[in-house]
Amino acid sequence: MRTIVLANNKGGVGKTTTSLCLAAGLREKKKKVLLIDLDAQENLAFTCGVDNEDLEGYSLYDVFHGKANVNDCVFQIYKDIDNFDILVGGIELRNADKDKKIDANSIKKALLGLNDSYDFIVIDTPPSLNVLTESAIKAADDLIIPIQPSAYSLQGVGGLNGFIKSVNPNINIVGLLLTGVNERTNLSKEFIEIYKTAAKNIGTKLFKNMIRNSVVIPESQVNRTTIYKHAPNSTVAKDYMDFVNEYLKGVKKNG
Ligand SMILES: Nc1ncnc2c1ncn2[C@@H]1O[C@H](COP(=O)(O)OP(=O)(O)O)[C@@H](O)[C@H]1O
Ligand SMILES: [Mg+2]
Repeated sequence: MRTIVLANNKGGVGKTTTSLCLAAGLREKKKKVLLIDLDAQENLAFTCGVDNEDLEGYSLYDVFHGKANVNDCVFQIYKDIDNFDILVGGIELRNADKDKKIDANSIKKALLGLNDSYDFIVIDTPPSLNVLTESAIKAADDLIIPIQPSAYSLQGVGGLNGFIKSVNPNINIVGLLLTGVNERTNLSKEFIEIYKTAAKNIGTKLFKNMIRNSVVIPESQVNRTTIYKHAPNSTVAKDYMDFVNEYLKGVKKNG
């Protein structure tokens, strides 16, 4: 089992979108996958068809508070896809930093209680370096940093790297992933070089595959489905699948 965390304290960089596209892509590859939504905004839960009322008594918040068994909180995402599940943190997690029942080991402990075994666990984190992000980084083997091709997107990366290393020095930072790339503004070689250098500076790489901007993404999200179902032949579905393959190739190489 490998646990992958998507993290970047900047919001709107594609963490949630990539979490689902990565998880669903791994499922397409016949892997057993569990998604975890740690953002109190529950965007991922929404797209996965889980509503607030479903979560009453069945969220990770309840697990952290000893009020629920983690196995009862696992939801099957789509009726027609087995071995593709989600655990949701819950809106109460917006106060996680003040919650005495939540600490850096909470996720690790919760995952130990799972009866089902998965090939991959994919964790979506909130846009802040709070105790939940810390707990997810501590529980993970791999970390992916989604990033936007904008002038300011690299500013926080040094600080993010410092946080990651202080929480889990053994984590494998797999790479920076450019998302929301505009097809018409062909990214220049120089521009890409800046991202490659930024990745190198924190001991990682820039994923060769980039995710283009496409209306298919928000469309699939409001339709509460995956891009592979909603628009299997779209350029962005191909981009994400190529990225999933690139990730898996790295996993194989590193054992
Ligand atoms: N490749 C893409 N093409 C078009 N829209 C995208 C793409 N990736 C993300 N978005 C949109 O951008 C917004 C932010 O993405 P999201 O994954 O929620 O970022 P984060 O989780 O980092 O805040 C969402 O509304 C999402 O629908
Ligand atoms: Mg998000």
